[in-house]
Amino acid sequence: MLKVRQALRSDSKQFFAWRNDPLVVASSFTNGVIKKRDHQRWYDQKLVSDDCSMYVVEYNTEPAGQMRFDISGSEATINYSLDAAFRGRGLAARSVNRAIALFAEEHENVRSIVAFVKADNVASCRVFEKLNFEFDGYDRKMEANRFSLHLAEPRSDRLTGD
Ligand SMILES: CC(C)(COP(=O)(O)OP(=O)(O)OC[C@H]1O[C@@H](n2cnc3c(N)ncnc32)[C@H](O)[C@@H]1OP(=O)(O)O)[C@@H](O)C(=O)NCCC(=O)NCCS
Repeated sequence: MLKVRQALRSDSKQFFAWRNDPLVVASSFTNGVIKKRDHQRWYDQKLVSDDCSMYVVEYNTEPAGQMRFDISGSEATINYSLDAAFRGRGLAARSVNRAIALFAEEHENVRSIVAFVKADNVASCRVFEKLNFEFDGYDRKMEANRFSLHLAEPRSDRLTGD
């Protein structure tokens, strides 16, 4: 069973291991392998930031991946990865979909989700296509493909509590 939950302080070690996985390093936009001390500082700051939401994906109660949303105004940029042991099983799109639903429920002011994906990251490009993200073209600054998803307006009955 697939579950997405809020990241906790105790997940820091797991996030560190995921961050330095070779495929994650290769797909990432910050250079190379991260040192443990730098990771801890970064993680503690992200965990308390109002501009960031982090989630853990669990598959049959095992930690299977991470999802992070960095918020800037009405837009959030998604960053995610699956543990190597859980790749190639079609879990990526389901996990991203579940995380977006949870994130959107908690952040009604965020109107769109953006993803930057290196052009050679075929699996991740496919994930966003499957989830009906629009392909916005190649972003020269990021040197990556840009995908975006406009979120549906929150239902007014939910806002009024009816
Ligand atoms: C990106 C990532 C989460 C994908 O996870 P995954 O479990 O391999 O993904 P899936 O098995 O669900 O595959 C996703 C789709 O890509 C397709 N795919 C995967 N590798 C492919 C390849 N080399 N060529 C063509 N299609 C490929 C799969 O067939 C699947 O499409 P389908 O459902 O239509 O068959 C995983 O590779 C990962 O953690 N990578 C490192 C971090 C990363 O790249 N994060 C994203 C940054 S934008």
